[in-house]
Parts: sequence; structure tokens; C-alpha cells
Amino acid sequence: MFAGNPKLFKRLLDSLTTSVLVLDKDLRLQYINLAAESLLAISGRQLHQAFIGDIFIHAEQDVLEVRQALAEHHSFTKRKAQLQLLHGKTMQVDYTVTPLLEITDAAVLIEIQGTNYAERISRDENLISTHETTRELVRGLAHEIKNPLGGIRGAAQLLAAELPNSELTDYTNVIIEEADRLHKLVDRLVGSRKPMEFRKLNVHEVLERVRNLIEAEVRDRDITVVRDYDPSIPELHGDSEQLIQAVLNIVRNAVQALESPHVKHRSGLIELKTRIMRNITIGTVFHKLVIRVEVVDNGPGVPPELIDNIFFPMISGRAEGTGLGLSIAHSIVNQHKGIIECKSEPGCTRFLVYLPVLAEAPASNLFTASQFGK
Ligand SMILES: Nc1ncnc2c1ncn2[C@@H]1O[C@H](COP(=O)(O)OP(=O)(O)OP(=O)(O)O)[C@@H](O)[C@H]1O
Ligand SMILES: [Mg+2]
Repeated sequence: MFAGNPKLFKRLLDSLTTSVLVLDKDLRLQYINLAAESLLAISGRQLHQAFIGDIFIHAEQDVLEVRQALAEHHSFTKRKAQLQLLHGKTMQVDYTVTPLLEITDAAVLIEIQGTNYAERISRDENLISTHETTRELVRGLAHEIKNPLGGIRGAAQLLAAELPNSELTDYTNVIIEEADRLHKLVDRLVGSRKPMEFRKLNVHEVLERVRNLIEAEVRDRDITVVRDYDPSIPELHGDSEQLIQAVLNIVRNAVQALESPHVKHRSGLIELKTRIMRNITIGTVFHKLVIRVEVVDNGPGVPPELIDNIFFPMISGRAEGTGLGLSIAHSIVNQHKGIIECKSEPGCTRFLVYLPVLAEAPASNLFTASQFGK
């Protein structure tokens, strides 16, 4: 269909989000598409005819495998390969090598997908579906707990009315209070069934509301909130109350981390940052424009043993925490077709909220709209 139209081929290759490199039989670069130039931060023109082993350094083993694939006419895929670039940057990628036997000046096709790049967060597809399953499980469990709990509370009330000795009601009161406490917890887990109300909004409205609330809370403390907003950010379709809740949960965690005894010696700093990003894949869906909201704090960092699970319900590193804040935030952001990531080390914890700019509001029905409420 496109025969004899190299311009069209080039445009197609340059529109791909997968990075493509084409090498000749001596493994010298013949072609590199735009995605590869941006992923590897190199210019195709400068590196034309460069040997692949000079583009990626310390990659002798990888080069050997490419040579073998070419000699033996087989293709292969390598996952989580560490590639080091000329200018020192190291990246983790998945790549596929395919020998192109029929084409004379092009001998090997290499497709690369970055795995540790914000630009490519498709691995989170797994995370999203695991969260869906957990949410379903929690909802089912909550339902099973609530029914007998009503019975226990009712029976305790009846018992209290029948007790001959009023001192004994202390015991029935304990049963009633504990049943109420558990009921509230379960309600928070299940969340409100109120459908999301999407409207066009500017993400800075959301952040400013959160900032005002937090500044009121930290007024007497050594914590400063700073802003670094990108004023050109477009509007997005969202439920502002829910988004405020999501960001508030993240920022409150930062405040609590900064107040922990480990950081008494230094001033707390929380940064709220926004940026626009282009051509991002979230889950399996490609988005042209995505808003990135970043919440950064200089606290002690997320405990390493928790970092992989903090978005699941009931995971908490605080004695008084219920471990629901982040799972609620994650659920809300998911319903906006977005995702949250966390990168943390002592002195710098970053929560990155990616919210796609969709042409229209995401479909919301009773099932997708139910979430953990707080
Ligand atoms: N900015 C942060 N710095 C350090 N640790 C954090 C930060 N944010 C979250 N955490 C860790 O992640 C855990 C889970 O957070 P999450 O908000 O889900 O629950 P929680 O704060 O413990 O309880 P809840 O929010 O329900 O009151 C926290 O207990 C804390 O250990
Ligand atoms: Mg919290």
C-alpha cells in the first residue's frame, strides 16, 4: 500500500511510541526514529553509521547476542536490560532484535521500550488490575462484616435494657462502641457510592484548595509549602472534590512524615509542582497530553519495606494510621484514567500523579464510580 513512498514510511516510524533502530550487517546505525532519539537522548544525524557498541557502552554481551541473532537468523527479546549511553546515563529497557534478511542495506531491526521512564508507565497495567481485584475483595469482605455487626450491636442494646445492674452496662457499652468503630472503618473501606461528577477544571484550583487547607493545619510548625506551577496547563475533566481528597491524602502524609521524630533537626519543605507531558502511556492507553502533579517533601522517606505496597489498603507505617489514605487517592486517580507513582529516598519523597487530558469525561457508572471514601 505504501510502496514507493519512503516519506510516508518515515512518518509512520516517527509516529510510533516504540523506539526503532535499524542497523546494517556490520551493526552500524542506518536509521533511528524520533521515539528512539528522545529515549536515548541522541541525534540520528550525528550517529549515522556509528557502531552500536559505541552508542551503548559496556554492552559487549548485548552486541555479541545481536551478532549471533544475525548469523543464526533468529530474533530475540531481552527484558530489563541495563543500557549505558555515551553520555553516562544508564537506563533499563526491554528490547527486541529482529534480523531483516531480505533488505540489503538494513540488516537488523531493534525495538526498544524504556521501563524506568515516566514516559512509559504501561507496567502499571498490572498495578491497576491488582488494585481492582483488591478493591472488589475489600468490598465483599466489608459487606460480610457489616451484617453480623448490626446484629451484635442490636443484641448488646437489648441486653443493656435487660441488665439488672447498671454497672454491667459498661460492658455492653464497650460492645456497642467497638461495633460502631468497626462500622465506621468498614464504611471508609467501601466508600461512598456517589457517582463522580466530572466537569472541566484547572488542576491548580485543586492544588490551591489543598494548599490552603494544609497551610492552615501547619501554621505553627516549621513546615513551608512552595509552589511551582506550569501556568500553560490545559483544563481536564475531573471531579474536583474527589481530586482534592486524593491530593490532600498525599500532602497530609508528607506533613505527617515531616513531623515524625526523625526529622526534628531540619525545616520541613513540601513542594507542589505541575507539568504538562506529551505522548505518555498509562496502563495500555496512549495519551497525547498528560498533566503531572508532583508532591515532594524532604522528610525521612517511605520505609523501604512498605514502598512496594503503600497504595494497598491497610498498609501503614504509622502507629495511628489506618493505611487507607493512599489507596483512596489511587482509586480516585484511577477513575480519572490516571495513575500515581512514588519515588522515595531519605530527604526526598516524590508522589507523581499523572492525569490524562481527555477529550471528554471518562464514562462513570455505578460500579466504576464507587470508591474508597474518606
Ligand atoms: N511522604 C511520605 N513520607 C514518608 N512515608 C510516607 C509518605 N507518604 C506515605 N508514607 C508511608 O505510607 C504509609 C501509607 O500511607 P496511607 O496514607 O495510605 O496511610 P496512613 O497515612 O498510614 O493512614 P491514613 O491515611 O488512613 O490515616 C504511611 O503510613 C507512611 O508509612
Ligand atoms: Mg495517610
